[in-house]
Amino acid sequence: MAGNSFGTLFRFTTWGESHGPAIGVVVDGCPSLLSLTEADIQPWLDKRRPGQSRYTTQRQEPDQVRILSGVFEGQTTGTPLSLMIENTDQRSKDYSEIAAKFRPGHADYTYWKKYGIRDYRGGGRSSARETACRVAAGAVARKVLGDGVTVRGALVQMGPHKVDRSRWDWAEVDNNPFFCPDPQAAAEWADYLDGIRKSGSSIGAVVEVVASGLPAGLGDPLYDKLDGDLARAMMTINAVKGVEIGNGFEAATLTGEQNADEMRAGPDGEAEFLSNQSGGILGGISTGQDVVVRFAVKPTSSILTPRQTVDLQGKDTDILTKGRHDPCVGIRAVPVGEAMMACVLADHLLRHRAYARG
Ligand SMILES: Cc1cc2nc3c(=O)[nH]c(=O)nc-3n(C[C@H](O)[C@H](O)[C@H](O)COP(=O)(O)O)c2cc1C
Repeated sequence: MAGNSFGTLFRFTTWGESHGPAIGVVVDGCPSLLSLTEADIQPWLDKRRPGQSRYTTQRQEPDQVRILSGVFEGQTTGTPLSLMIENTDQRSKDYSEIAAKFRPGHADYTYWKKYGIRDYRGGGRSSARETACRVAAGAVARKVLGDGVTVRGALVQMGPHKVDRSRWDWAEVDNNPFFCPDPQAAAEWADYLDGIRKSGSSIGAVVEVVASGLPAGLGDPLYDKLDGDLARAMMTINAVKGVEIGNGFEAATLTGEQNADEMRAGPDGEAEFLSNQSGGILGGISTGQDVVVRFAVKPTSSILTPRQTVDLQGKDTDILTKGRHDPCVGIRAVPVGEAMMACVLADHLLRHRAYARG
């Protein structure tokens, strides 16, 4: 099965299944002499970890990371970094009833058609458990980017309910279980999601990820444009169904006057942009402004309402997914989106250093 690696110079490969003994990631291309310990990676994994509130799955995984290679005396050596996370809460019996049926909205049917074998324990390789590996790789990518670059994510919409951007406060993101930057919206979402959860249903969401402090010049037109690579990165995350950069689809409703980012000469002679409709990317290259990406996450497919499906013999049947699940997977997709953004930016930073104009 190919397709488990991502990136060019900063390149990571993930391995493992939801209910195997462990999952992990090999990061190749990380420069040497960066300080790196497990304590640099763990906080990001803790952010994605399940079972932290009643709004996420109750699967209890400590997601403790171990660095197996690529670090000597607290510094990267420039050789492949191997990071491993043990699976400790694998209740395969939760899935035994559905072993012979395809869960609607999951990858069961397509994996079966493609590979002819099905690991029904929590979806095997298609499980979003794999996204922990991306988060670990993202922590390394943040080291490559350095302290001057911040990559932050937030949930900006749950079902039909959007945040009020005039109340946006990044500090609030860590104060509620939704990574929501608007405290009022977070309070309203709590009641809303309780209703969804208690009815055994689920709901979709929109995540926004913003990178600040980037230099102008990252991105390789034409086919490795920064926006193209970011869109691909986000689309590889489980349950992501749409990606926008900057104004995204709203740009279709705007006039040229509203959408173009006007410029003025700044005090140091560098151009200053008067707005950031473009999401910090023009012609596939970073402008030096914030890079802004949004992605839509579909509602969790595992719900408690019986659904129509077929079994392995092609016969009609019904299915009810009793396994533990998140009522809104968009919440835990926030740290995953941050990680993918960090990996794309680290990759492009290294590529820029390799062959940008002198
Ligand atoms: C962090 C995260 C956690 C997820 N947890 C669940 C879950 O508990 N139950 C579920 O049905 N889907 C969950 N998903 C989504 C499925 O993994 C995904 O829908 C499925 O593999 C099919 O792939 P697709 O939706 O990308 O086509 C999760 C996604 C993410 C990003």
